[in-house]
Amino acid sequence: MKTIIVYTSQTGFTKRYGEWLTEGLKAKGQEVLLLPLKEAKKKADSFFEGADAIVFGGWAMGGNIVGSDWLKSKVPMWKEKKLALFCVGGSPNENPDVAIALDRALSDEEKEYVKVFYCQGGIAYEKMKLPSKLAMKAFAGMLNKKKDATEQERKMGEMLSHSYDIADPKYVDPIVEYLS
Ligand SMILES: Cc1cc2nc3c(=O)[nH]c(=O)nc-3n(C[C@H](O)[C@H](O)[C@H](O)COP(=O)(O)O)c2cc1C
Repeated sequence: MKTIIVYTSQTGFTKRYGEWLTEGLKAKGQEVLLLPLKEAKKKADSFFEGADAIVFGGWAMGGNIVGSDWLKSKVPMWKEKKLALFCVGGSPNENPDVAIALDRALSDEEKEYVKVFYCQGGIAYEKMKLPSKLAMKAFAGMLNKKKDATEQERKMGEMLSHSYDIADPKYVDPIVEYLS
């Protein structure tokens, strides 16, 4: 079985998950190619013909998955392949916003062909581009100032006040299992 994993990553968490997924699939005897989205966009459709499975990994931004339009545009062409989409975000798994974002990531028809996964990543302010850093700091500030904040919002505001890393290779296990 040959799998191509395409990813986009600003601060490294999604790239790391791409690498963990590559290791997990290789351990199961698969042939795996890990490719940044920039490179994948330069490839002709024929490049992907030999792959049995295609996975796309993107980071969460404002409830959307960065770069996921690339995979979504290819779904009609790749209905015979095994397809997966994974999202890496700063929210912990138990944050209810995660399930909402995953549900919204694909149309009902796309859900018939693509399985979606969430992998908790983290926040790395030191690696963020300035507009991202300003947006996140503003969001954290808004949550921290909110008078009627829910317990979830209070916790998230506190977490987002500094960098953190809640990524773990165990979160690729369900993706490996799906692709095996
Ligand atoms: C502008 C902005 C918006 C974000 N929005 C979300 C979000 O809606 N949900 C979430 O869980 N994380 C959100 N994050 C956090 C990133 O998804 C998280 O830091 C992720 O681990 C980044 O992955 P990367 O290191 O591959 O770039 C946001 C980050 C930025 C900079």
